[in-house]
Amino acid sequence: MKINHLGIAVKDIGEALKFWGDALGLENAHTETVEDQKVRIAMLPLGESRIELLEPTGEDSPISKFLEKRGGGIHHIAIEVEDIEAALAKLKSKGARLIDESPRIGAEGCLVAFVHPSSVNGVLLELTQAN
Ligand code: CO
Repeated sequence: MKINHLGIAVKDIGEALKFWGDALGLENAHTETVEDQKVRIAMLPLGESRIELLEPTGEDSPISKFLEKRGGGIHHIAIEVEDIEAALAKLKSKGARLIDESPRIGAEGCLVAFVHPSSVNGVLLELTQAN
């Protein structure tokens, strides 16, 4: 396993890139709108991992709610697993609270599933399986 990315909630990707891109020097390798999750994302490679900037596409986006409550910050961490179905089954058997009982298609066409923060010491956890 490895950390695939850290998801950071931002109001405006263009504005956020002034820091992450211009000032810090990361490259915006990939931008995409994930309709299913009502977010626009930018992926910035950083070593073996990435920073994922998440911008809401509307008022009803989960990211909008997060920004209202906290005004930005780390939204989730994403761990890459080889077999997401097996990982979910194991977590469930250990009593973890799953937001997604089965994987769905996330950014970059990867299979993803979220685990509830109440089982992860307050951290929203995304599992992702590379395609
Ligand atoms: Co993510």
